[in-house]
Amino acid sequence: MTEITLQSVTKSWGALTALKPIDLHIPHGEFLVLLGPSGCGKTTTMRIIAGLETASTGKVLKDGDDITNRLPRERNMAMVFQNYALYPHMKVLDNVAYPLRARGLAKAQRERTALAALDKVGLAPLCRPSAEEPLRRPAPARRSCPRARALSGCLPDG
Ligand SMILES: Nc1ncnc2c1ncn2[C@@H]1O[C@H](COP(=O)(O)OP(=O)(O)O)[C@@H](O)[C@H]1O
Ligand SMILES: [Mg+2]
Repeated sequence: MTEITLQSVTKSWGALTALKPIDLHIPHGEFLVLLGPSGCGKTTTMRIIAGLETASTGKVLKDGDDITNRLPRERNMAMVFQNYALYPHMKVLDNVAYPLRARGLAKAQRERTALAALDKVGLAPLCRPSAEEPLRRPAPARRSCPRARALSGCLPDG
């Protein structure tokens, strides 16, 4: 069970107000879409929820706990970036397994969990030892790799 609440969250960079006070409650299991013109603060809102930006004012709650100042790795959340944000020098499996280091898993465990996530998005066949680097793959595979990386954080340890 996970629910997210934003309480009067704002974000400013110097004189620029990127986010006016936003209140949001996302109940468990809800699929929420943030829709609005470019520059209205969608990405900033998501980055604040994930902990990649700090709110200037206001609070972020997860299951009622104040996580406003927690590090991203302490939040057990994943974000899939529009620009893929893959590590170009790493193979698909290594890209998906890499963030699992933060959970303190051994290499073999990381790889098993990563493979389970890749299997869910249909990419497990790419992970043969001879597989190509992710960025040389067609776009659908490149899109699925970050999804697997996000999913791997939600799977039990391999
Ligand atoms: N790191 C940053 N430094 C300064 N201004 C930023 C930064 N990130 C975003 N902004 C500004 O904050 C506003 C909201 O941006 P953003 O959240 O990316 O909007 P959206 O995702 O809705 O297009 C924009 O005016 C943008 O230029
Ligand atoms: Mg955006």
